[in-house]
Amino acid sequence: MQIVHSFQELRSARSQMSGTVGLVPTMGFLHEGHLSLVRAARAACDHVAVSIFVNPTQFGPKEDLANYPRDLDHDAALLEKAGVDLVWNPTPEEMYPQNYQTWVSVEDLTRPLEGGYRPGHFRGVTTVVAKLFNAVQPHKAFFGQKDAQQAAVIRQMVRDLSYPIEIVVCPIQREADGLAMSSRNTYLSPQERRAALVLSRSLFKARDAYTAGSRDAAALRQLVLDSLAQEPLANVQYVSCADFETLQEVDTLQHPALLSMAVYVGKTRLIDNVILG
Ligand code: PAJ
Repeated sequence: MQIVHSFQELRSARSQMSGTVGLVPTMGFLHEGHLSLVRAARAACDHVAVSIFVNPTQFGPKEDLANYPRDLDHDAALLEKAGVDLVWNPTPEEMYPQNYQTWVSVEDLTRPLEGGYRPGHFRGVTTVVAKLFNAVQPHKAFFGQKDAQQAAVIRQMVRDLSYPIEIVVCPIQREADGLAMSSRNTYLSPQERRAALVLSRSLFKARDAYTAGSRDAAALRQLVLDSLAQEPLANVQYVSCADFETLQEVDTLQHPALLSMAVYVGKTRLIDNVILG
């Protein structure tokens, strides 16, 4: 496994790969969620490249950029074991040189949900992912359903900018007790870790109601809100029941829907979702 930092090294390593290349973009501090994407890429492509870059432009001024967990050596060991060919760990200075001023932004899809609470977040994501795509030129790129809106936004960008890249979205990996895996789970105290279970528990209750025939979006949102309200450490930012394609809120579930939430547990902002239908 080769680890490269600069664009030049990346291009030279990439030019030595023949056959199909799968890219897994990450911000590092890898867990089973990331590794599930690596395994999917391994199974579908001749070569697998993983980028590790804590992208400053997708963090808001009051967000956790400085504290975001990092452990490149541990990440590299996990990726080596997973059979990855190439790890690209660029520096912020190389990704965004002085006087950087070019941005990629997707419009309508970035307005609701996360976009409403994290202004500028998706502009940072799409810009960095476009730069990763341009440099690596993968045939397929792998994203997690954990960040459902991000996956939808990347799909839209790929269509709109005519990237010849297939976007593969992989299911959410959860801890045995249901908590969606996330690098940010390391911020949780033991008490908060227990409280954080309320996210998945609430979503699963709503999924059960959906399976039992409930199609009223307001009722499903309320069921989730009532369930979240039982946990004193949880502070809800939003609960959404939206069309899976447009991410616009729905009244009645006729097409596949995305039931999603952002909840603070203590100071840690967690997101989770389930697909209904
Ligand atoms: P990061 O949060 O490191 O996540 C990298 C990828 O892993 C994303 O596609 C994310 O959806 C996926 N992932 C995270 N937790 C997961 C889980 N529990 N199950 C399945 N997949 C999971 O998302 C980003 O980085 C950045 O925004 C990035 C796309 C790298 C751009 O900077």
